[in-house]
Amino acid sequence: MDQAEGLRRMQRPATKVITVASGKGGVGKTNVVANLAISLARSGHRVMVFDADLGLGNIDILLGLTPRFNISHVLSGEKSLEQVLVRGPQDIWVLPASSGVSSMAALDTRSQARLIDAVSSLAIPLDYLLVDCAAGIAGDVLTFSRAAQDLVVVLSNEPASVADAYALMKVLSRQYGLRRFHLLPNMVRDAREGRALFGKITGVADRYLDVSLDLVGSIPLDPALRAAVRAQRAVVESAPGSPSALAFAAVAERVRTWPVPKGPSGQLEFFMSQLLQTDPSAAAV
Ligand SMILES: Nc1ncnc2c1ncn2[C@@H]1O[C@H](COP(=O)(O)OP(=O)(O)OP(=O)(O)O)[C@@H](O)[C@H]1O
Ligand SMILES: [Mg+2]
Repeated sequence: MDQAEGLRRMQRPATKVITVASGKGGVGKTNVVANLAISLARSGHRVMVFDADLGLGNIDILLGLTPRFNISHVLSGEKSLEQVLVRGPQDIWVLPASSGVSSMAALDTRSQARLIDAVSSLAIPLDYLLVDCAAGIAGDVLTFSRAAQDLVVVLSNEPASVADAYALMKVLSRQYGLRRFHLLPNMVRDAREGRALFGKITGVADRYLDVSLDLVGSIPLDPALRAAVRAQRAVVESAPGSPSALAFAAVAERVRTWPVPKGPSGQLEFFMSQLLQTDPSAAAV
């Protein structure tokens, strides 16, 4: 990177990188990312969604998009990142993942770092980059979780989901020193159930983990969301007055208050440097 490029990057507005993970599958990560992205874009922010469910990506399906190319074409060198990007509702950028390409689900750290580097070097100015993780606590989930400035852990009020959310936070805090987690209960009856769930997991985390947890809000179980998924639309678009859409809007409102780092560390390069700092094996890229 020459000096001019360095200066250009420094002049760019800071990008906030937020990763959404859960441990357990099917608890609503992709819906959270899609609806949060659209809500943030509606209030004038420039947003990109990075489908980091690399082998089973489906945010494009959720949004009714039919991209011709995806991240696997970037990693194979056939396409540049810019050629793979598609526009979604409210003009959000979507970086689609492949589906059914098993090698993508098991990317080595080197390829993960290459990918993150490519995203970091994008010339598109962004206010928010939202990263939709795969289920589980495999290497890629940990990579994308710790490379973000803020991590949202989605969970439902079921023992397995609570256990997996806890396990994810345990691994990230003990192995990588992550301390701050935003929790987002989904498919709850009401905000009260969300708060109770948050209280339950906080009680255990306070005893056994050195972490600080924050409740971002909660999303109710909502037939309108199911209907939106079937219609391949985000619920904030198809039913903006529905309980889940209103809850997503409130979450977006909250997210907007999170501080965006200033200066070079607020650039997208943060994504890459954070990874390199915490995983020496990735430095070989
Ligand atoms: N608040 C909600 N109300 C009703 N149904 C919901 C809600 N949230 C999620 N669902 C249902 O759960 C399904 C799974 O949601 P989603 O794909 O967002 O989960 P995920 O965590 O991304 O899954 P995966 O781990 O497979 O990536 C949705 O298709 C929808 O049917
Ligand atoms: Mg998903």
